[in-house]
Amino acid sequence: MTTYPDVSRSLDLYRRAGELIPGWTQLISRRSDQFAHGVSPIYAQRAKGSRFVDVDENEYIDWVNAVGAVILGHADDVVDAAVKEQIDRGSLYTLNSPLELELAEELTQTIPSAEMVRYTKGGGEACAVAARIARGVSGRDKILFCGYHGWHDWYQAANFGVDPESGEFPFAGIEPIGVPKALAGTVIPFVYGNLAALSDLLDAHRGEVAAIMMEPARSELPPAGYLEGVKDLAAKHDVILIFDEVSSGWRLSIGGVQEYVGVTPDMTVVAKAMSNGYPMGAVVGSRRVMQPAGRMFISSSYWSDNIGLIAALTTIRELKRRDAQRRFREIGETLRAKLNQAIADVGLPGACVGLYANPVLSLKPPAGVDPRKISTLFIQEMARRGVHTYMSFKATLAHTEEDIRLTGQAAAEALSVIKSGLDRGNLDELIVADLKKEPFRRLVR
Ligand SMILES: Cc1ncc(COP(=O)(O)O)c(C=O)c1O
Repeated sequence: MTTYPDVSRSLDLYRRAGELIPGWTQLISRRSDQFAHGVSPIYAQRAKGSRFVDVDENEYIDWVNAVGAVILGHADDVVDAAVKEQIDRGSLYTLNSPLELELAEELTQTIPSAEMVRYTKGGGEACAVAARIARGVSGRDKILFCGYHGWHDWYQAANFGVDPESGEFPFAGIEPIGVPKALAGTVIPFVYGNLAALSDLLDAHRGEVAAIMMEPARSELPPAGYLEGVKDLAAKHDVILIFDEVSSGWRLSIGGVQEYVGVTPDMTVVAKAMSNGYPMGAVVGSRRVMQPAGRMFISSSYWSDNIGLIAALTTIRELKRRDAQRRFREIGETLRAKLNQAIADVGLPGACVGLYANPVLSLKPPAGVDPRKISTLFIQEMARRGVHTYMSFKATLAHTEEDIRLTGQAAAEALSVIKSGLDRGNLDELIVADLKKEPFRRLVR
Protein backbone atom coordinates (compact mmCIF):
# COMPACT_ATOMS: atom_id res chain seq x y z
CA MET A 1 0.00 0.00 0.00
CA THR A 2 1.53 3.31 -1.05
CA THR A 3 -1.16 5.98 -1.14
CA TYR A 4 -2.59 8.05 1.66
CA PRO A 5 -6.25 9.03 1.64
CA ASP A 6 -6.93 12.46 0.17
CA VAL A 7 -8.07 14.59 3.11
CA SER A 8 -7.65 17.95 1.37
CA ARG A 9 -11.19 19.12 2.04
CA SER A 10 -10.81 18.29 5.75
CA LEU A 11 -7.55 20.23 5.85
CA ASP A 12 -9.12 23.17 4.07
CA LEU A 13 -12.05 23.30 6.52
CA TYR A 14 -9.63 23.07 9.45
CA ARG A 15 -7.65 26.04 8.13
CA ARG A 16 -10.88 28.05 7.93
CA ALA A 17 -11.85 26.90 11.43
CA GLY A 18 -8.56 28.34 12.68
CA GLU A 19 -9.80 31.75 11.60
CA LEU A 20 -13.40 31.45 12.80
CA ILE A 21 -13.31 29.20 15.88
CA PRO A 22 -10.75 29.80 18.63
CA GLY A 23 -9.07 26.45 19.28
CA TRP A 24 -10.58 25.02 16.02
CA THR A 25 -13.04 22.64 17.73
CA GLN A 26 -15.48 22.51 20.64
CA LEU A 27 -13.77 19.53 22.29
CA ILE A 28 -10.00 19.35 22.75
CA SER A 29 -10.04 15.63 21.90
CA ARG A 30 -11.43 16.53 18.47
CA ARG A 31 -8.48 18.74 17.59
CA SER A 32 -6.56 17.41 14.67
CA ASP A 33 -3.32 17.50 16.69
CA GLN A 34 -4.70 14.59 18.72
CA PHE A 35 -4.44 12.41 15.60
CA ALA A 36 -2.04 12.28 12.65
CA HIS A 37 -2.65 15.75 11.21
CA GLY A 38 -2.20 15.69 7.45
CA VAL A 39 -3.36 12.09 7.06
CA SER A 40 -6.19 11.56 9.58
CA PRO A 41 -9.69 12.76 8.64
CA ILE A 42 -10.89 15.88 10.50
CA TYR A 43 -14.45 16.49 9.31
CA ALA A 44 -17.18 13.89 8.79
CA GLN A 45 -20.26 14.15 6.62
CA ARG A 46 -22.17 11.05 7.66
CA ALA A 47 -21.93 8.09 10.02
CA LYS A 48 -23.76 4.79 10.35
CA GLY A 49 -23.12 1.80 12.58
CA SER A 50 -19.38 1.26 13.12
CA ARG A 51 -18.31 3.54 10.28
CA PHE A 52 -18.21 7.14 9.11
CA VAL A 53 -17.48 8.91 5.85
CA ASP A 54 -15.31 12.03 5.93
CA VAL A 55 -15.88 15.15 3.82
CA ASP A 56 -13.44 13.80 1.23
CA GLU A 57 -15.60 10.64 0.78
CA ASN A 58 -13.19 8.27 2.54
CA GLU A 59 -14.85 5.61 4.71
CA TYR A 60 -13.40 4.56 8.06
CA ILE A 61 -14.05 1.96 10.75
CA ASP A 62 -14.51 4.13 13.83
CA TRP A 63 -12.89 3.16 17.17
CA VAL A 64 -13.25 6.64 18.69
CA ASN A 65 -17.03 6.87 18.49
CA ALA A 66 -17.35 10.48 19.58
CA VAL A 67 -14.91 9.82 22.44
CA GLY A 68 -17.13 7.01 23.66
CA ALA A 69 -20.45 8.86 23.47
CA VAL A 70 -21.76 6.60 20.71
CA ILE A 71 -22.31 3.15 22.19
CA LEU A 72 -24.95 1.33 20.12
CA GLY A 73 -23.43 2.54 16.87
CA HIS A 74 -23.79 5.71 14.82
CA ALA A 75 -27.35 6.64 13.84
CA ASP A 76 -28.85 3.65 15.61
CA ASP A 77 -32.19 2.78 14.00
CA VAL A 78 -34.09 2.16 17.22
CA VAL A 79 -32.90 5.27 19.08
CA ASP A 80 -33.30 7.44 16.00
CA ALA A 81 -36.83 6.22 15.37
CA ALA A 82 -37.76 7.11 18.96
CA VAL A 83 -36.11 10.52 18.60
CA LYS A 84 -37.83 11.25 15.27
CA GLU A 85 -41.20 10.31 16.72
CA GLN A 86 -40.54 12.59 19.68
CA ILE A 87 -39.54 15.48 17.41
CA ASP A 88 -42.97 15.27 15.82
CA ARG A 89 -44.54 15.51 19.29
CA GLY A 90 -42.32 18.40 20.40
CA SER A 91 -38.74 18.61 21.55
CA LEU A 92 -39.16 21.09 24.42
CA TYR A 93 -42.50 21.58 26.13
CA THR A 94 -43.77 24.56 28.10
CA LEU A 95 -44.80 22.07 30.76
CA ASN A 96 -42.73 19.33 32.26
CA SER A 97 -42.35 16.03 30.45
CA PRO A 98 -43.43 12.70 31.93
CA LEU A 99 -40.30 11.29 30.28
CA GLU A 100 -38.33 12.85 33.16
CA LEU A 101 -39.97 10.39 35.54
CA GLU A 102 -39.75 7.44 33.18
CA LEU A 103 -36.00 7.96 32.76
CA ALA A 104 -35.55 8.57 36.50
CA GLU A 105 -37.23 5.23 37.17
CA GLU A 106 -35.01 3.50 34.60
CA LEU A 107 -31.89 5.04 36.14
CA THR A 108 -32.86 4.10 39.69
CA GLN A 109 -33.37 0.52 38.52
CA THR A 110 -30.03 0.48 36.69
CA ILE A 111 -27.41 2.38 38.73
CA PRO A 112 -26.88 1.04 42.28
CA SER A 113 -26.36 4.50 43.85
CA ALA A 114 -29.46 6.04 42.23
CA GLU A 115 -32.48 6.85 44.41
CA MET A 116 -33.07 10.37 43.08
CA VAL A 117 -32.05 11.98 39.82
CA ARG A 118 -31.27 15.39 38.29
CA TYR A 119 -30.56 16.00 34.60
CA THR A 120 -28.13 18.07 32.56
CA LYS A 121 -27.01 18.05 28.94
CA GLY A 122 -23.36 17.11 29.36
CA GLY A 123 -20.80 15.44 31.58
CA GLY A 124 -18.82 18.46 32.80
CA GLU A 125 -22.08 20.23 33.57
CA ALA A 126 -23.30 17.24 35.56
CA CYS A 127 -20.00 17.21 37.52
CA ALA A 128 -20.55 20.89 38.35
CA VAL A 129 -24.06 20.09 39.59
CA ALA A 130 -22.70 17.24 41.73
CA ALA A 131 -20.05 19.57 43.20
CA ARG A 132 -22.76 22.16 44.00
CA ILE A 133 -24.96 19.59 45.70
CA ALA A 134 -22.07 18.15 47.74
CA ARG A 135 -21.02 21.61 48.91
CA GLY A 136 -24.62 22.52 49.67
CA VAL A 137 -25.32 19.37 51.66
CA SER A 138 -22.08 19.41 53.64
CA GLY A 139 -21.69 23.15 54.12
CA ARG A 140 -18.01 22.66 53.22
CA ASP A 141 -16.09 23.99 50.22
CA LYS A 142 -13.16 21.73 49.40
CA ILE A 143 -13.29 18.86 46.93
CA LEU A 144 -10.69 16.12 46.56
CA PHE A 145 -10.69 14.61 43.10
CA CYS A 146 -9.02 12.04 40.88
CA GLY A 147 -9.57 12.05 37.13
CA TYR A 148 -11.04 14.43 34.58
CA HIS A 149 -14.28 16.20 35.46
CA GLY A 150 -14.88 18.82 32.76
CA TRP A 151 -14.13 22.44 31.96
CA HIS A 152 -15.92 24.31 34.77
CA ASP A 153 -14.27 26.69 37.25
CA TRP A 154 -14.74 24.47 40.32
CA TYR A 155 -12.53 21.79 38.70
CA GLN A 156 -10.10 23.75 36.52
CA ALA A 157 -9.10 25.71 39.65
CA ALA A 158 -7.03 22.62 40.48
CA ASN A 159 -4.56 23.79 37.84
CA PHE A 160 -3.51 26.64 40.17
CA GLY A 161 -1.90 23.99 42.33
CA VAL A 162 0.48 22.57 39.74
CA ASP A 163 3.07 23.69 37.26
CA PRO A 164 1.26 23.63 33.88
CA GLU A 165 4.51 22.95 32.03
CA SER A 166 5.42 19.92 34.13
CA GLY A 167 2.87 17.86 32.23
CA GLU A 168 1.59 16.73 35.58
CA PHE A 169 -2.06 17.62 35.20
CA PRO A 170 -4.36 17.67 33.27
CA PHE A 171 -3.20 19.13 29.93
CA ALA A 172 0.47 19.92 29.49
CA GLY A 173 0.72 23.61 28.63
CA ILE A 174 -2.86 24.56 29.50
CA GLU A 175 -3.11 27.08 32.28
CA PRO A 176 -6.27 27.98 34.24
CA ILE A 177 -6.64 31.25 32.36
CA GLY A 178 -9.98 32.88 33.20
CA VAL A 179 -10.61 30.76 36.27
CA PRO A 180 -11.09 32.91 39.42
CA LYS A 181 -7.93 32.88 41.53
CA ALA A 182 -10.15 32.98 44.59
CA LEU A 183 -10.89 29.29 43.92
CA ALA A 184 -7.22 28.29 44.29
CA GLY A 185 -6.89 25.63 46.97
CA THR A 186 -10.56 24.63 46.91
CA VAL A 187 -10.05 21.56 44.72
CA ILE A 188 -7.18 19.18 45.33
CA PRO A 189 -6.04 16.17 43.28
CA PHE A 190 -5.18 12.79 44.77
CA VAL A 191 -3.34 9.95 43.12
CA TYR A 192 -5.37 6.90 42.16
CA GLY A 193 -4.66 3.70 44.09
CA ASN A 194 -2.94 5.28 47.10
CA LEU A 195 -5.23 5.07 50.15
CA ALA A 196 -2.59 6.34 52.58
CA ALA A 197 -2.10 9.54 50.57
CA LEU A 198 -5.86 10.11 50.41
CA SER A 199 -6.14 9.55 54.14
CA ASP A 200 -3.35 12.11 54.74
CA LEU A 201 -5.15 14.65 52.55
CA LEU A 202 -8.40 14.14 54.45
CA ASP A 203 -6.53 14.60 57.73
CA ALA A 204 -4.78 17.73 56.47
CA HIS A 205 -8.14 19.26 55.46
CA ARG A 206 -10.19 17.78 58.27
CA GLY A 207 -13.69 19.25 58.52
CA GLU A 208 -13.30 21.21 55.25
CA VAL A 209 -13.87 18.58 52.57
CA ALA A 210 -17.33 18.37 51.00
CA ALA A 211 -16.69 15.54 48.59
CA ILE A 212 -14.34 13.08 46.99
CA MET A 213 -15.05 13.02 43.27
CA MET A 214 -13.30 10.35 41.23
CA GLU A 215 -13.36 8.25 38.10
CA PRO A 216 -13.70 4.82 39.73
CA ALA A 217 -11.72 3.15 36.92
CA ARG A 218 -10.61 3.84 33.41
CA SER A 219 -8.75 1.20 31.40
CA GLU A 220 -7.93 -1.17 34.29
CA LEU A 221 -10.00 -2.47 37.20
CA PRO A 222 -9.24 -0.85 40.57
CA PRO A 223 -6.76 -2.67 42.81
CA ALA A 224 -8.55 -5.12 45.13
CA GLY A 225 -10.14 -3.30 48.05
CA TYR A 226 -9.22 0.18 46.79
CA LEU A 227 -12.69 1.61 46.15
CA GLU A 228 -13.94 -0.03 49.36
CA GLY A 229 -11.09 1.77 51.16
CA VAL A 230 -12.00 5.11 49.58
CA LYS A 231 -15.60 4.60 50.64
CA ASP A 232 -14.55 3.84 54.24
CA LEU A 233 -12.35 6.94 54.35
CA ALA A 234 -15.19 9.08 52.99
CA ALA A 235 -17.55 7.71 55.65
CA LYS A 236 -14.98 8.22 58.42
CA HIS A 237 -14.55 11.90 57.47
CA ASP A 238 -18.26 12.42 56.72
CA VAL A 239 -17.39 13.29 53.11
CA ILE A 240 -19.73 12.65 50.16
CA LEU A 241 -18.31 10.10 47.72
CA ILE A 242 -19.03 10.84 44.06
CA PHE A 243 -18.16 8.48 41.21
CA ASP A 244 -17.78 10.20 37.86
CA GLU A 245 -18.88 7.46 35.48
CA VAL A 246 -19.11 9.70 32.42
CA SER A 247 -16.46 7.57 30.72
CA SER A 248 -16.47 4.37 32.77
CA GLY A 249 -20.23 3.95 32.61
CA TRP A 250 -22.29 1.64 30.41
CA ARG A 251 -19.69 -0.51 28.55
CA LEU A 252 -18.02 -2.45 31.39
CA SER A 253 -21.39 -2.95 32.99
CA ILE A 254 -24.68 -1.15 32.36
CA GLY A 255 -24.78 -0.14 36.03
CA GLY A 256 -21.21 1.21 35.82
CA VAL A 257 -17.99 0.33 37.60
CA GLN A 258 -19.91 0.58 40.88
CA GLU A 259 -22.10 -2.35 39.83
CA TYR A 260 -19.14 -4.32 38.44
CA VAL A 261 -17.05 -4.04 41.62
CA GLY A 262 -19.94 -3.78 44.10
CA VAL A 263 -19.03 -0.44 45.71
CA THR A 264 -21.89 2.05 45.87
CA PRO A 265 -21.00 5.77 46.19
CA ASP A 266 -23.32 8.50 47.54
CA MET A 267 -23.63 10.14 44.15
CA THR A 268 -22.82 9.31 40.53
CA VAL A 269 -22.38 11.41 37.41
CA VAL A 270 -23.29 9.88 34.04
CA ALA A 271 -23.48 11.35 30.53
CA LYS A 272 -22.02 10.61 27.10
CA ALA A 273 -22.88 7.02 26.15
CA MET A 274 -26.17 7.08 28.08
CA SER A 275 -27.95 8.60 25.08
CA ASN A 276 -26.00 7.32 22.05
CA GLY A 277 -24.92 10.71 20.76
CA TYR A 278 -27.80 12.94 21.83
CA PRO A 279 -26.93 15.49 24.54
CA MET A 280 -27.79 14.18 27.99
CA GLY A 281 -26.27 13.93 31.43
CA ALA A 282 -27.46 13.10 34.92
CA VAL A 283 -26.50 13.28 38.56
CA VAL A 284 -27.97 10.45 40.59
CA GLY A 285 -27.57 9.62 44.25
CA SER A 286 -29.00 8.61 47.56
CA ARG A 287 -32.12 10.35 48.84
CA ARG A 288 -30.05 11.78 51.72
CA VAL A 289 -27.69 13.75 49.48
CA MET A 290 -30.03 14.46 46.56
CA GLN A 291 -33.16 15.68 48.39
CA PRO A 292 -31.55 18.94 49.65
CA ALA A 293 -30.78 19.88 46.00
CA GLY A 294 -34.42 21.01 45.82
CA ARG A 295 -33.43 24.07 47.85
CA MET A 296 -30.35 24.91 45.76
CA PHE A 297 -30.25 27.00 42.59
CA ILE A 298 -29.75 24.28 40.00
CA SER A 299 -31.83 25.16 36.97
CA SER A 300 -31.55 25.36 33.16
CA SER A 301 -34.04 25.56 30.26
CA TYR A 302 -32.76 22.71 28.11
CA TRP A 303 -32.30 20.16 30.86
CA SER A 304 -35.92 19.14 30.26
CA ASP A 305 -35.53 18.64 26.54
CA ASN A 306 -37.40 15.57 25.35
CA ILE A 307 -34.84 14.50 22.77
CA GLY A 308 -32.12 13.75 25.31
CA LEU A 309 -34.67 12.10 27.60
CA ILE A 310 -36.10 9.77 24.97
CA ALA A 311 -32.65 9.06 23.52
CA ALA A 312 -31.32 8.09 26.97
CA LEU A 313 -34.37 6.01 27.83
CA THR A 314 -34.20 4.14 24.53
CA THR A 315 -30.41 3.69 24.65
CA ILE A 316 -30.43 2.22 28.16
CA ARG A 317 -33.28 -0.15 27.29
CA GLU A 318 -31.51 -1.20 24.08
CA LEU A 319 -28.25 -1.83 25.97
CA LYS A 320 -30.18 -4.19 28.22
CA ARG A 321 -32.12 -5.81 25.38
CA ARG A 322 -28.97 -6.37 23.31
CA ASP A 323 -27.05 -7.92 26.22
CA ALA A 324 -24.43 -5.18 25.94
CA GLN A 325 -22.01 -6.31 28.64
CA ARG A 326 -21.58 -9.77 27.11
CA ARG A 327 -21.09 -8.32 23.62
CA PHE A 328 -18.57 -5.67 24.78
CA ARG A 329 -16.62 -8.40 26.51
CA GLU A 330 -16.62 -10.45 23.28
CA ILE A 331 -15.54 -7.52 21.09
CA GLY A 332 -12.92 -6.27 23.56
CA GLU A 333 -11.38 -9.65 24.15
CA THR A 334 -11.28 -10.58 20.46
CA LEU A 335 -9.74 -7.26 19.52
CA ARG A 336 -7.20 -7.45 22.33
CA ALA A 337 -6.18 -10.97 21.27
CA LYS A 338 -5.79 -9.89 17.63
CA LEU A 339 -3.68 -6.88 18.57
CA ASN A 340 -1.51 -8.94 20.93
CA GLN A 341 -1.02 -11.51 18.18
CA ALA A 342 0.01 -8.74 15.78
CA ILE A 343 2.46 -7.28 18.32
CA ALA A 344 3.99 -10.71 18.91
CA ASP A 345 4.18 -11.54 15.17
CA VAL A 346 5.90 -8.27 14.37
CA GLY A 347 8.19 -8.59 17.39
CA LEU A 348 7.60 -5.23 19.04
CA PRO A 349 7.89 -4.82 22.81
CA GLY A 350 4.51 -3.95 24.33
CA ALA A 351 1.00 -5.31 24.64
CA CYS A 352 -2.64 -4.51 24.21
CA VAL A 353 -3.77 -4.02 27.79
CA GLY A 354 -6.87 -2.80 29.57
CA LEU A 355 -10.34 -3.98 30.30
CA TYR A 356 -12.54 -5.32 27.55
CA ALA A 357 -14.45 -2.05 27.65
CA ASN A 358 -11.36 -0.08 26.69
CA PRO A 359 -8.43 -1.99 25.16
CA VAL A 360 -5.29 0.18 24.99
CA LEU A 361 -2.24 -0.37 22.83
CA SER A 362 0.80 0.11 25.03
CA LEU A 363 4.00 -0.04 22.97
CA LYS A 364 7.37 0.35 24.61
CA PRO A 365 9.67 2.32 22.32
CA PRO A 366 13.40 1.77 22.75
CA ALA A 367 15.24 4.31 24.92
CA GLY A 368 15.70 7.60 23.14
CA VAL A 369 12.68 7.21 20.84
CA ASP A 370 9.93 9.79 21.44
CA PRO A 371 6.73 7.76 22.15
CA ARG A 372 4.72 10.37 20.25
CA LYS A 373 6.45 9.25 17.07
CA ILE A 374 5.20 5.73 17.66
CA SER A 375 1.61 6.81 18.34
CA THR A 376 1.58 9.26 15.42
CA LEU A 377 2.87 6.60 13.05
CA PHE A 378 0.35 4.05 14.34
CA ILE A 379 -2.59 6.44 13.95
CA GLN A 380 -1.30 7.56 10.54
CA GLU A 381 -0.92 4.03 9.23
CA MET A 382 -4.32 3.00 10.59
CA ALA A 383 -5.96 6.02 8.92
CA ARG A 384 -4.20 5.09 5.69
CA ARG A 385 -5.92 1.71 5.94
CA GLY A 386 -9.35 3.13 6.70
CA VAL A 387 -9.35 2.77 10.50
CA HIS A 388 -9.84 5.85 12.71
CA THR A 389 -8.48 5.33 16.20
CA TYR A 390 -6.37 6.60 19.07
CA MET A 391 -4.04 4.15 20.81
CA SER A 392 -7.16 3.02 22.69
CA PHE A 393 -10.34 1.51 21.24
CA LYS A 394 -13.95 2.28 22.16
CA ALA A 395 -16.29 -0.23 20.59
CA THR A 396 -19.98 0.04 19.83
CA LEU A 397 -22.52 -2.74 19.60
CA ALA A 398 -22.53 -2.12 15.83
CA HIS A 399 -18.92 -3.35 15.42
CA THR A 400 -18.94 -6.65 13.53
CA GLU A 401 -16.52 -9.58 13.40
CA GLU A 402 -15.47 -8.25 9.97
CA ASP A 403 -14.67 -4.81 11.48
CA ILE A 404 -12.51 -6.53 14.09
CA ARG A 405 -10.78 -8.67 11.48
CA LEU A 406 -10.02 -5.66 9.25
CA THR A 407 -8.80 -3.66 12.26
CA GLY A 408 -6.51 -6.51 13.32
CA GLN A 409 -5.12 -6.74 9.79
CA ALA A 410 -4.58 -2.95 9.57
CA ALA A 411 -2.90 -2.98 12.99
CA ALA A 412 -0.56 -5.82 11.97
CA GLU A 413 0.52 -3.79 8.92
CA ALA A 414 0.82 -0.53 10.90
CA LEU A 415 2.91 -2.25 13.57
CA SER A 416 5.22 -3.74 10.97
CA VAL A 417 5.79 -0.25 9.50
CA ILE A 418 6.75 0.91 13.03
CA LYS A 419 9.02 -2.09 13.50
CA SER A 420 10.81 -1.48 10.21
CA GLY A 421 11.23 2.23 11.07
CA LEU A 422 12.78 1.28 14.40
CA ASP A 423 15.00 -1.40 12.88
CA ARG A 424 16.24 0.78 10.03
CA GLY A 425 16.41 3.96 12.07
CA ASN A 426 14.20 5.82 9.57
CA LEU A 427 11.10 6.38 11.74
CA ASP A 428 11.11 10.12 10.94
CA GLU A 429 10.92 9.48 7.19
CA LEU A 430 7.91 7.22 7.63
CA ILE A 431 5.94 9.87 9.55
CA VAL A 432 4.29 12.07 6.94
CA ALA A 433 1.81 13.61 9.42
CA ASP A 434 2.48 16.26 12.07
CA LEU A 435 3.61 14.81 15.36
CA LYS A 436 0.63 14.14 17.57
CA LYS A 437 0.17 16.25 20.72
CA GLU A 438 0.14 14.67 24.17
CA PRO A 439 -3.22 13.07 24.98
CA PHE A 440 -5.59 14.10 27.70
CA ARG A 441 -4.01 13.46 31.10
CA ARG A 442 -6.05 12.01 33.93
CA LEU A 443 -4.91 10.96 37.36
CA VAL A 444 -6.45 7.54 37.09
CA ARG A 445 -5.31 4.23 35.72
C1 LIG B 1 -14.88 11.19 33.39
C2 LIG B 1 -15.37 12.40 32.65
N1 LIG B 1 -16.02 13.37 33.32
C3 LIG B 1 -16.49 14.46 32.69
C4 LIG B 1 -16.33 14.62 31.34
C5 LIG B 1 -16.86 15.85 30.67
O1 LIG B 1 -17.98 15.53 29.90
P1 LIG B 1 -18.46 16.51 28.73
O2 LIG B 1 -17.37 16.51 27.70
O3 LIG B 1 -19.76 15.92 28.26
O4 LIG B 1 -18.67 17.87 29.35
C6 LIG B 1 -15.67 13.64 30.60
C7 LIG B 1 -15.45 13.80 29.16
O5 LIG B 1 -14.58 13.20 28.56
C8 LIG B 1 -15.17 12.50 31.27
O6 LIG B 1 -14.52 11.53 30.62
